[in-house]
Amino acid sequence: MKCFYKALLVSWVLFEGVLAGPWSAWMPEHMSAFEGTCVVIPCRFSYPDELRPSAVHGIWYFNSPYPKNYPPVVYKSRTNIVHESYLGRTRLLGELNFRNCTLQISRLSPELTGKYYFRGDLGGYNQYTYPEHCNLEIINKPTIVSPPEVVEGTEVELRCVVPDNCPDMKPIITWMNHENLAEHSVYAQVEEEGGTWSLVSLLKFMPSRENHGHELGCKVTYSNTTFEFDGFTTLDVKYPPRILQANSSVEVIQGSQVVLVCTVDSSPMALISWLREDEILHKDMAGSLTLHLDNITHLQDGIYTCAAENIYGKDNHSLALAVLYAPWKPVVNASVVAVEGEPVTILCSSQSNPEPMITIFKDKKPMAMGVYQNQVALEFESVTHEDDGEYWCTAENQFGQRSTAFNLTVEFAPLILSDSKCTAARDTVKCICAAKSNPEAVITFELPTRNVTVNETDREFVYSQKTGYIVTSILTLQREVDSQLYIVCSARNFYGTRNQQLQFHHSNSLMWAKVGPVGAVVAFAILIAVVCYVSQTRKKKSMNESSSFMQTENPPVAYSGDYRTPGHLEKSEEICSLESH
Ligand SMILES: *[C@@H]1O[C@H](CO)[C@@H](O)[C@H](O)[C@H]1NC(C)=O
Ligand SMILES: *[C@@H]1O[C@H](CO)[C@@H](O)[C@H](O)[C@H]1NC(C)=O
Ligand SMILES: *[C@@H]1O[C@H](CO)[C@@H](O)[C@H](O)[C@H]1NC(C)=O
Ligand SMILES: *[C@@H]1O[C@H](CO)[C@@H](O)[C@H](O)[C@H]1NC(C)=O
Ligand SMILES: *[C@@H]1O[C@H](CO)[C@@H](O)[C@H](O)[C@H]1NC(C)=O
Ligand SMILES: *[C@@H]1O[C@H](CO)[C@@H](O)[C@H](O)[C@H]1NC(C)=O
Ligand SMILES: *[C@@H]1O[C@H](CO)[C@@H](O)[C@H](O)[C@H]1NC(C)=O
Ligand SMILES: *[C@@H]1O[C@H](CO)[C@@H](O)[C@H](O)[C@H]1NC(C)=O
Ligand SMILES: *[C@@H]1O[C@H](CO)[C@@H](O)[C@H](O)[C@H]1NC(C)=O
Repeated sequence: MKCFYKALLVSWVLFEGVLAGPWSAWMPEHMSAFEGTCVVIPCRFSYPDELRPSAVHGIWYFNSPYPKNYPPVVYKSRTNIVHESYLGRTRLLGELNFRNCTLQISRLSPELTGKYYFRGDLGGYNQYTYPEHCNLEIINKPTIVSPPEVVEGTEVELRCVVPDNCPDMKPIITWMNHENLAEHSVYAQVEEEGGTWSLVSLLKFMPSRENHGHELGCKVTYSNTTFEFDGFTTLDVKYPPRILQANSSVEVIQGSQVVLVCTVDSSPMALISWLREDEILHKDMAGSLTLHLDNITHLQDGIYTCAAENIYGKDNHSLALAVLYAPWKPVVNASVVAVEGEPVTILCSSQSNPEPMITIFKDKKPMAMGVYQNQVALEFESVTHEDDGEYWCTAENQFGQRSTAFNLTVEFAPLILSDSKCTAARDTVKCICAAKSNPEAVITFELPTRNVTVNETDREFVYSQKTGYIVTSILTLQREVDSQLYIVCSARNFYGTRNQQLQFHHSNSLMWAKVGPVGAVVAFAILIAVVCYVSQTRKKKSMNESSSFMQTENPPVAYSGDYRTPGHLEKSEEICSLESH
């Protein structure tokens, strides 16, 4: 603009100095003025000096330079005859003799908008319409000029521009709806451009996002008139996104549907994303973004973030989504086999949200318990055979319960049970030896006084049966007893050997009394015979001779295996008969 202005000054100087140039004129190309006010069109013209006219006249035409088109006459110095639209409205302010064609038009109305041409009349044929003309625009609104970009927090200056080319009527500019703008200030200045003058009111303020969409007005009035013109502009404030609303942390039950909503205020519209940890789940250019999660699982548990971004900045909001679920089936860390006396630790673990209560039961009795923890330890400083057995580990929270069974297997040296004993019946002696052990014990009967040892491989005499960890062996002897006879039961496994002399119990306590000392001697003899026979039979067997023992057709399988019911012994059949030597 300044350059243009300087150029004009140069042309002005040319006017003043070298007026001997060709026919030429100068006036502003464009002017505007408010309806009802007036305008002064500054104008200068030149003609060749050598013409030296006696009188200089001039005519202003509207919209056409050619008289033969009969354009409306705006002003005519020679006759004062003008087109009716201009009657009483025009006045030549310039002095034509001084080549000044400045024209004032008053009481402007919209139909006067158009081109204005000046024609110089120097007498005779020296008449000339200058091609330079002024485009006049009759307006009824001030112009509000906003900067290309209004950014939150950056001071901005709005201009209300009003033409000021009427010396009779001076405009007054007031701003409207600007009272609440932050740090606002107003000042006015006049500006000249291309020979026309403007009154400019400058409104400075600090825009905020709340001002976005706000309508600002500029009003023009003239003193002592009722003229009033106003114009409005809507503020387009640019600002970074701000998350107005988003869900807070939430707990949901596995399998349910979850809807997360993020509402953002920004200008221009922001790119909104929903992220889980660093993974983008959904994004869109919008004012609000909804994330739908169907049939949610514990894998979707985590931190969710709504992030919004535009070129002016970004914002984010995070929330924790906790997925609640019933415990998983508990896991026991190993198959558990231990040796008696060792320390044992068994871990049972599960997973749930909220954390489970884990209990380890044996025979419905709680052995270990943990509340709000994912694992529980069952600890034995020194495990015993009584700890052997089936255990259940149960994990539970308000959403459900799961259990796992496991066995603790304890290996231990044999124990000879208290029921082990010998019973003398009418014609047999039955010895029962029961041993508990793991692994299973081998039971041997020893008759130390006879240097004889028998075990279950001697099927004629010994029968064994196993129930759980208990092995029961039964030795059956022909009813011949010597008073020194004693029988030792020996139980052995990998972890040790246990020996115990078996007690004699008499089914008939008067037996020895009846038999008397002689009988006792006889019985002793018989027993020796039995023992000898046993020894001999072994030798004979090895020599492949037939045994003189008579084996019954039915094997002694009538036992229930329950050593606790000696009553069964009575029902047993004789398994061998004695032949005296
Ligand atoms: C032309 O006339 C007007 C009105 O009298 C005056 O304001 C202006 O200064 C004159 N222009 C020149 C160049 O003398
Ligand atoms: C407006 O009118 C008042 C009184 O009628 C007068 O004193 C004042 O000068 C006028 N102002 C203008 C700008 O014409
Ligand atoms: C998240 O907020 C929206 C809107 O307020 C609501 O409809 C929705 O149920 C909320 N989601 C959760 C999981 O609370
Ligand atoms: C939910 O997810 C689970 C595991 O992926 C699946 O077994 C179940 O059928 C799903 N339920 C629905 C209603 O989609
Ligand atoms: C959220 O904003 C914080 C601070 O403004 C920033 O450190 C973090 O990286 C942002 N997170 C995301 C996911 O954009
Ligand atoms: C179970 O795990 C714990 C810890 O890892 C360990 O100390 C213990 O010996 C394990 N128990 C078995 C039976 O493996
Ligand atoms: C534990 O032992 C019992 C008896 O031997 C068996 O029936 C059961 O199946 C075992 N349980 C497990 C979990 O191994
Ligand atoms: C038993 O054997 C031992 C040595 O093997 C022997 O000294 C003892 O005399 C034997 N006793 C009988 C009754 O045979
Ligand atoms: C049973 O006794 C026989 C002969 O006395 C012996 O050879 C065998 O090894 C014994 N069996 C066991 C399991 O001890």
